[in-house]
Amino acid sequence: MYEYVHGGDIYTARDLTNNPHLIDFSANINPLGLPPGVKEAVMEALAECHNYPDPFCRELTQALAAYESVSQENIYCGNGASEIIFRLVLASKPRKALLLAPTFADYEKALNTGGSTVEHYPLTVEHDFRLRKDFLNMLDNSYDMVWICNPNNPTGQVCEASFLQEVLERCSPKNTLLVVDECFMDFVDEPEKYSVQHLINSHNNLLILKAFTKTFAMPGIRLGYVLTTNGRIIERLRAAGQDWSVSIIAQKAGICALKQTEYLRKARQLVKKERQFLLEELKRLGVRTYGSMANYIFFQASDCPDLDKKLLARGILIRSCANYRGLSKGYFRIAVKSRNDNLLLLAALKEIIKVESR
Ligand SMILES: Cc1ncc(COP(=O)(O)O)c(C=O)c1O
Repeated sequence: MYEYVHGGDIYTARDLTNNPHLIDFSANINPLGLPPGVKEAVMEALAECHNYPDPFCRELTQALAAYESVSQENIYCGNGASEIIFRLVLASKPRKALLLAPTFADYEKALNTGGSTVEHYPLTVEHDFRLRKDFLNMLDNSYDMVWICNPNNPTGQVCEASFLQEVLERCSPKNTLLVVDECFMDFVDEPEKYSVQHLINSHNNLLILKAFTKTFAMPGIRLGYVLTTNGRIIERLRAAGQDWSVSIIAQKAGICALKQTEYLRKARQLVKKERQFLLEELKRLGVRTYGSMANYIFFQASDCPDLDKKLLARGILIRSCANYRGLSKGYFRIAVKSRNDNLLLLAALKEIIKVESR
């Protein structure tokens, strides 16, 4: 039977608990919710929905080009970053690809669908799930595609741009495509130390994946994009699926969201403060955390492998990471939310951990 493997499944959780008021810590979404004006932009867009959407997302890519300081022709928009992941595989048909483990599940799902051979670089608990120098040794000329999630999901560990540049130097002579998923980069402190966006002009085998989902809290609207100077890949991405995957609603919502710079500044400030608060409180509870440099916290609670179920019974949904390749029961991920929600989670955790240690 098909198994849904991601966070954010409030629907199953509601069915299981009969609780319509669950607090969802399982999806890593900007805690401020939809940016100001987006709801109104969506309502206005409804009036245009008797037309097909612009297949080239002209107005949106123009706004994105200004926002990201790249050329408009270096942007391709899709129905969420996930859709672009599948299109990238269809567009480039890699025979063999290299992934981190654990990492976001859809890279492997897409590669499996495309019939690629997939190999993994293990991120281990002994090294706090960090990507290490010896990754470079794996980059022989057999790979057509390498995927790095930065910051990585679920660990929240980051790679410095200088290291990724070394990866890129190894990939370039062989024309290996390097996909760097920066969907959570907006929530990292000092993103300029980690983002490789400045390298797209000099390396046309580099693709950077980004999403409105997390940054602008609009997973239900579905909007993501890729940045690359590889015009051939962009052409192939267009050819690899329907022309209208970005709805009029998503295009208008995106254009409106990009103007909300104050919203984003406040969100980053809030995430920074609340992430620190959660990390300190979890430490106080004796919970071992790793990485956690973005808007989510990755931790181990080996003494309580059913923590997700116990929290669900208390109306709180968290992400068990047991189904990530390379992880097992006892690893969990929580989103950084508002102080109020974080306090509710911590109170429930305290209760559970007290009962467990009795
Ligand atoms: C690292 C990473 N990339 C991409 C995605 C997909 O994002 P979207 O909702 O835009 O498809 C996710 C979703 O969880 C993710 O964690």
